[in-house]
Amino acid sequence: MIEASNIRAGYGDGPDILQDISMTASAREIVTILGPNGCGKSTLLKTVAGFVRPRGGAIRINGEGAETVPIHEKVRHYGVGYVPQTDNVFRTMTVTENLLMGARDLSRDTRNERFEALMTQYPTLANKRRRKASALSGGERQILSLARALMAGPRILLLDEPSAGLSPAMMHDVFEAIGRIRDAQDMCILMVEQNAYEALSISDRAYVLSLGKVALTARSADLLNDPAMERLYLGGDPDA
Ligand SMILES: Nc1ncnc2c1ncn2[C@@H]1O[C@H](COP(=O)(O)OP(=O)(O)OP(=O)(O)O)[C@@H](O)[C@H]1O
Ligand SMILES: [Mg+2]
Repeated sequence: MIEASNIRAGYGDGPDILQDISMTASAREIVTILGPNGCGKSTLLKTVAGFVRPRGGAIRINGEGAETVPIHEKVRHYGVGYVPQTDNVFRTMTVTENLLMGARDLSRDTRNERFEALMTQYPTLANKRRRKASALSGGERQILSLARALMAGPRILLLDEPSAGLSPAMMHDVFEAIGRIRDAQDMCILMVEQNAYEALSISDRAYVLSLGKVALTARSADLLNDPAMERLYLGGDPDA
């Protein structure tokens, strides 16, 4: 479980990008972060992941204070998996090699087992397992990036725009896969998305950010039925 309280964060000596963010995400829950470009969604995920150290506030993971814990510790100790917004696969390595990279610390048996399970789950990757990642489409690389995070067997998954650049059909597959991961593995998933409707339809709760603050938080189902949602999501004035 992730609990962020009154997070303030920014880059270098620049201004606060996150001004006062509080949010939670529990096991077996998908929480979506929405908001206009540049409002700080990725910064929030990077802060939870441990790439950006907060200037103020607290981040608790599974009840332990974790605001100063760097990413590699978060992966090992808390089972955090992070899939960044910009694709981060190793282009000169094959699909198989990329996936095995995601599970370097595991036993051979566990690694093979997870690898085979992912091959079944993602036929696109299975068919191209010997191809170099550079020969995949942008969407296929997104899926590879997600699958690589899953190889480590995370308990908390941070996804930054998992559907970016995907065709509608592939986007549907990826969202469906994310929903299944939550249900099958009791995972806590914190996801940033631009495709608000798709994201809300598989998620449990959502936070809409605006100018570094939480403008609105609600159950996803309620937000889907809220006429103000689109205005907020597009960055309009929440009080308008
Ligand atoms: N590494 C960085 N160094 C300095 N400023 C940064 C850095 N990364 C992001 N920013 C700034 O922080 C602000 C928020 O960026 P962030 O990437 O968190 O937004 P976002 O909500 O994820 O946007 P998008 O929807 O475009 O992905 C922006 O003004 C951006 O210019
Ligand atoms: Mg972003």
